[in-house]
Amino acid sequence: MNTEHRPWRRPFGGYFWPRNLVPDPELTRVGPGTPAGEYLRRYWHPVAMTSELGTAPLPLRILGEDLVLFRDRGGRIGLLHRLCAHRGTSLGYGIPMERGLRCCYHGWTWDADGRCLDTPGEPPQSRLKESVFQGAYPVHELDGLVFAYMGPPAEQPALPIFDITGQPETTVATFSITIDCNWLQTHENGIDPMHAAFLHARPGADSFGSVFAVVPRMDLMETPGGFIVLTTRRWKDKVWTRGSEIVIPNLAHIPMPFETGETERMFGRAAFTRWVVPVDDTHNIFIGWRSFSATLDPLGKGDPARCGKNMIDFPGQEIGRDPVEAQRDPGDIEALVGQGEIAVHAAEHLGTSDRGVQALRRRLRQLVRAVAAGERIKPPESPWADGILPTYGNDTVLRIPPSGGDEGARLDAIARLVHASVVSSTEQPRARRAAWIETRVRDGLSSL
Ligand code: FES
Ligand SMILES: [Fe+2]
Repeated sequence: MNTEHRPWRRPFGGYFWPRNLVPDPELTRVGPGTPAGEYLRRYWHPVAMTSELGTAPLPLRILGEDLVLFRDRGGRIGLLHRLCAHRGTSLGYGIPMERGLRCCYHGWTWDADGRCLDTPGEPPQSRLKESVFQGAYPVHELDGLVFAYMGPPAEQPALPIFDITGQPETTVATFSITIDCNWLQTHENGIDPMHAAFLHARPGADSFGSVFAVVPRMDLMETPGGFIVLTTRRWKDKVWTRGSEIVIPNLAHIPMPFETGETERMFGRAAFTRWVVPVDDTHNIFIGWRSFSATLDPLGKGDPARCGKNMIDFPGQEIGRDPVEAQRDPGDIEALVGQGEIAVHAAEHLGTSDRGVQALRRRLRQLVRAVAAGERIKPPESPWADGILPTYGNDTVLRIPPSGGDEGARLDAIARLVHASVVSSTEQPRARRAAWIETRVRDGLSSL
């Protein structure tokens, strides 16, 4: 072993370990004017659940900016810079009016778009309010989440609507969990499905289920909007293949954490859609929709009542746990926060199962640099006339007994067949996707 240039690569090499490795500033810094911060500001992000918004203003911190979200008594929602543009007190103490938010200090009142509606301590003839504005961002409410756009107004895209919204016989619950680490390590967890076989499937722990303990075959597919990471497992006489979809920059459509692999199913859609929204460089919110239906969850293990502020209804996501309990049974939160406030990529040693993580960083870096060079982000294209965007996250369980041949190659071929069917189904009208996938998969299996 040549250790001349890397003397820490040796037994008992702790003394030589490099001490000067630092986080990647290009992808992890999110404040105004930083490369990733500017890039992320080109997208809509959910910043709160509607259920968090009561009669009082809600102080928030998003992308390193202190903000306040409020609903005025007329029903309009606004997202303003936290500190009042008059003399800088917190609008977290503001009073929602019939129109706008009134500062507690001198009564200046700000509309949802930042216009000044009133400066009550100024003389009646004063025109000051015509020239002063509070910093404000556009918001949009959708299915219990409040989305905000914090980028340059001239580059504001339409709020993307995915076909996961409005699924028949499906209800959604919202969740928002604050995690004390950089946004990227939380997001990367979604493109690292290998961890499920270890972190989430330990015997005796509160695990996702026995089938998750099977170390899967993995494959990574690129899509125009991001990636689909495929995991495929043999389970008794079944083959379970799962596609987790990662959408650039910080979104994912992830299938059921309660899959048992026991019952045949086709195109089981994503069970949750989540964004990882930076609060600042060292905190993020894991926020989105949890979907419930009899098709998604035939055993009824999910529970919408356990989704909300800092909670979701599957193992591994609890915050503020007893340290002894967390050490006995760590979950995603412990693994992510355990990487440190901002994971240091330069200290990692990545393997083949980390292909997704590498590809995600590569794609993000290209886009961060493109925005820094003045390019505009191209909005995603829909194959359907109404502009709704297709999603690809899915679980498919097929009864295919072992054949005695090359099992690995067979599992890979099945995964690719299912994946190709799911992707090509967007050429069909939305309501026909599931039937099309079923036909294509069944036809394809007969010739495998
Ligand atoms: S500081 Fe807000 S009105 Fe004066
Ligand atoms: Fe996980």
